Amino acid sequence: MNRVEGRDKVTGQATYAYEYDVEGVVYAFVVQSAIAKGRIRSLDPSAALATPGVLAVLSSADRPELGDTGDPELAVFQGPEIAYHGQAVAVVVAETLEVAREAARTGVRVEYDEEPHDVRLRPDHPGLYRPKVVNPVFPSRTEKGDVEAGLADAAVTVDEVYTTPVLHNNAMEPHATIAVWGPDGDLTLYDSTQGPTGHRDITARVLGLPPERLRVVSRHVGGGFGSKGTPRPQAVIAALAARAVGRPVKLTLTRHQMYDMTGYRTPTIQRVRLGADAQGRLTALDHDVVEQSSTLKEFAEQTAIVGRVMYATPALRTDHHLARLDVPTPSWMRAPGEAPGMFALESAMDELAIAAGMDPIELRIINEPDAEPGSGRPYSSRNLVACLREGAHRFGWARRDPEPGIRLEGRWLVGTGVASSTYPAYRRPTSASVSVLNGDFIVRVAAVDIGTGARTALTRIAADTLGASPEQVRVEIGDSDLPKATLAGGSMGTASWGTAVVRACEALLKNGGKEATADTTEEVGEAADFARHAFGAQFAEVRVHADTGEVRVSRLLGVFAAGRIIAPQLARSQFIGGMTMGLGMALMEQTVLDPDFGDFLTDDLAQYHVPACADVPAIEVAWIDEEDPYLNPMGSKGIGEIGIVGTAAAIANAVHHATGHRIRHLPITPDKLL
Ligand code: MOS
Repeated sequence: MNRVEGRDKVTGQATYAYEYDVEGVVYAFVVQSAIAKGRIRSLDPSAALATPGVLAVLSSADRPELGDTGDPELAVFQGPEIAYHGQAVAVVVAETLEVAREAARTGVRVEYDEEPHDVRLRPDHPGLYRPKVVNPVFPSRTEKGDVEAGLADAAVTVDEVYTTPVLHNNAMEPHATIAVWGPDGDLTLYDSTQGPTGHRDITARVLGLPPERLRVVSRHVGGGFGSKGTPRPQAVIAALAARAVGRPVKLTLTRHQMYDMTGYRTPTIQRVRLGADAQGRLTALDHDVVEQSSTLKEFAEQTAIVGRVMYATPALRTDHHLARLDVPTPSWMRAPGEAPGMFALESAMDELAIAAGMDPIELRIINEPDAEPGSGRPYSSRNLVACLREGAHRFGWARRDPEPGIRLEGRWLVGTGVASSTYPAYRRPTSASVSVLNGDFIVRVAAVDIGTGARTALTRIAADTLGASPEQVRVEIGDSDLPKATLAGGSMGTASWGTAVVRACEALLKNGGKEATADTTEEVGEAADFARHAFGAQFAEVRVHADTGEVRVSRLLGVFAAGRIIAPQLARSQFIGGMTMGLGMALMEQTVLDPDFGDFLTDDLAQYHVPACADVPAIEVAWIDEEDPYLNPMGSKGIGEIGIVGTAAAIANAVHHATGHRIRHLPITPDKLL
């Protein structure tokens, strides 16, 4: 099945948040803090206000009235305190974007009382503490068995520190909002969001509105990866600006501003200790993580939880520590937790295989657990071994000589590596309705398609349930006025929305074709006690230039076990997209912070490098047929995030095989190999 909105997208008919034609619209541009910590001493907007075309300047001097701002990142302009470099301190509203931007740049004079800032994460940071839970509600620390005894008894051990840098989502569509107040005080936000229902509920609370007075429209979204999973400050600022000038307001963040105001992946410092007996069976697994949050609020990434999922071991300890720094609050980025956590764990497993003189695939297979190690629950399905075997077959792993650093083709050292992938299969309550109009089925649910193919998958799910052809089904999504839905995040969109769509369609068939609605709160709540995860295996072949240290990934193969695959063509794209992002994480992506100014330096696509087509010459994706009756009526697991999990480790392991150098600090840039 082709993407149902594909033609709209490639012909420019698909309307994104900033593109709506709104009568009388004016433009806003955000002014950002030039210091990382301190207070605004004075803010003088007079030059901006004197600029022809400028309508208003809003700042903390005005303290616009807000409701219950549970999220301090959304409590804009509420006081003089500065919590991070780039925080919004004012907004200029003008008749044109150009005037707003220029007046914001030159017309608002801000003076600060600057205080010393602390922006550097380090393993011995004096402020480190253990959060009560890590996202969303996992215990921060778990311990089972005697880790120290397990390590002491081991025939082979690994004890290494792995680090990952600050990473930023770079959705093609920036975070943008048009705010339109109606004459009766109702507000419509055209917003680039991953969840119209959640956005409405949160933003209504922040603005002090009853939720039914706010409508959030997001029919097409150009990527999010987690950064649009919650409302960002520009939505609140646009609403306040529109209220102040009595006109609709358009506000987009620039690419530079996105780096400060839309979240990022926390850097991590991860110590992994593994012990194994002479046969390679784990005797202990210890994963300790240091990461950061802001002074504004606690965001605790669940980096070490992968150890609770992956391998059988009699002794297992996982732990997290946070430092609260004078930085923007980190947020979600594709596979938060799993992506950095599996870089460390799967690199360490490769090191353990080498120490034990074992094949890395055999090491993983011998440590296959009967039940989830952290919880003792049975898996609803787990086909990691099948993925490893199928991948090994397709990749030609049997021909591999494990000796590192010996394959030279011209001046290029060649190596191969493998790593596992994992991602949980979640589901959340959602409502949907279906009705018949002129022989077509109209399906309504406040889902959102962030480029994943959600609209297409839901069309397929509805058609299958109704026994209709996909052409007879029209799916309406991307609007908080539709039946309430969970967000496009946590790889749970299709599973959550699809369940509601199936139930609504079943109800329509049962009642003879009359409009039907379904709500899955009860069904999702009574899920049986299984550990539900998708698994996968990733294989990489790299070429490392012997003179320059340049790394080229010549082959990437991912084999996944993710339940039933609903829309194969789009699923393939999802896996490839995740693996491409994993390649970026492995080799090039990093946000560099200037410790003196507390400012992100690499804040555009010229400096923050993401893979281009030439960087990904050959990515192959396959999946195994997996039957799992304990998931949802479709039998599907999420596929949005697992593709990025394990890729970086597979590439780092291949770099070691090529060169004999173990790179434990991402990204693997040439300087680290020379
Ligand atoms: Mo994704 S980081 O769960 O939007």
